[in-house]
Amino acid sequence: MPKTLTITDNRTGKQYEIPIEHGAIRAMDLRQIKTDADDFGLKTYDPALMNTANCVSRITDIDGDRGVLLYRGYPIEQLAENSDFLETAYLLLSGELPTTAQLNKWKTNVTLHSMLHENVKKFMEGFRYDAHPMGIFLSTVGALSTFYPDAKDIFNEQSRLTQTVRLIAKVPSIAAYAFRHSQGLPYIPPDNELSFTGNFLNMLFRMAELKYQPNPVLERALDVLFILHADHEQNCSTTAMRTIGSSHSDPYSALTGAAAALYGPLHGGANEAVLKMLSEIGTVDNVPKIIKSVKSGERKLMGFGHRVYKSYDPRAKIIKQTADSVFSVTKQNPRLDIALELERIALQDDYFIKRRLYPNVDFYSGLIYEAMGFQPAMFPVLFAIPRTVGWIAQWEEMLLDTEQKISRPRQLYVGATQRDYVKRENRS
Ligand code: CMC
Repeated sequence: MPKTLTITDNRTGKQYEIPIEHGAIRAMDLRQIKTDADDFGLKTYDPALMNTANCVSRITDIDGDRGVLLYRGYPIEQLAENSDFLETAYLLLSGELPTTAQLNKWKTNVTLHSMLHENVKKFMEGFRYDAHPMGIFLSTVGALSTFYPDAKDIFNEQSRLTQTVRLIAKVPSIAAYAFRHSQGLPYIPPDNELSFTGNFLNMLFRMAELKYQPNPVLERALDVLFILHADHEQNCSTTAMRTIGSSHSDPYSALTGAAAALYGPLHGGANEAVLKMLSEIGTVDNVPKIIKSVKSGERKLMGFGHRVYKSYDPRAKIIKQTADSVFSVTKQNPRLDIALELERIALQDDYFIKRRLYPNVDFYSGLIYEAMGFQPAMFPVLFAIPRTVGWIAQWEEMLLDTEQKISRPRQLYVGATQRDYVKRENRS
């Protein structure tokens, strides 16, 4: 079977044969299709990049119809069951699971970089008491570029590794301080004897005790949630990371842009929006009313639907199971019943079935986070911590890809044609 596409341009009658590779044609191959020598050549028009691959990647693979998610080929279910967050981070970044020696070295390295510079803390103290933690988080990550000017050396492998370790190690510390700031509590320094998530819980919740002992069930649940959120191929924030990185800015600046993209309620801010929606619904009896307003187009059911998944999001399935273990040690979240009822009704309703709308990762994660003691404003920050790994892995893959250049799409200009400046007194 020839792997080509034959195109006939009916404007000129000319035929073109274009190669097909990995199920795609190269948009630049269309440029040769012209009406005459002065013609720019054919472009594609794809608002929101619904059907455009903008990179070749070897990191994460999603089969949206079957609900499959693979990190470097490994199913997310197997990683959630057997791995831990830092091992998964190593896998995403390097391409392979680490040996014991590699893993120990990696974990030690991350553990030793979790402290924040005193000036970073002072910078964070400048935010108002009621500043949104995600706003604090992304501004502080951006400020890190002023502390580590060596990060500009993006084509130096050692420098990239240093920034990678710094970022992965410091984002939980920044997140914890943003949380403590909003509660009016003092900053708690990292405890190197604890695991990555155990220490995060320590920095968040330690009060007057000399040594914080994380609850092992909550520590593991957070680890699983972090594994599930670590990467998700070319989503909005990852595209932002790659796009900003393509101009060769440093990784802290690029990651700030990625975190800003994640902040929106259609992306990582959806878990916060789900909780707001559930509290607004209030009781199970009100569920049919909200479903009715969703179907009449008045609002969206937050935590439902996905650009890629047209079946149950595999991450949502795992989160639902994780919720049971979390609620066994915390109080059950009273909003769980509302969420379960929403899901039950939606999954048998024609509106949702026809549009293939299922719960996504954000539908149940907020319920767990709330039961663990987080206010909804922290939810996008809890998404950004693990996604930092994916952003860096994708950024580095982009930098090392010899086909990549500065990201610079085309447009279809349909505005005014050239005209002469009109003096103010002559304007009507
Ligand atoms: N509630 C009600 N209707 C919906 C929803 C929803 N949550 N999502 C999509 N639809 C409808 C939409 O109105 C459209 O209907 P119609 O064909 O009649 O116009 C149809 O389904 C197709 O939707 P779309 O907006 O064209 O789909 P999209 O691929 O552009 O949007 C999405 C994907 C995730 C932005 C969208 O489903 C949404 O806004 N969901 C709610 C927000 C949310 O939960 N976001 C988290 C995504 S998962 C975490 C992450 O990776 O960020």
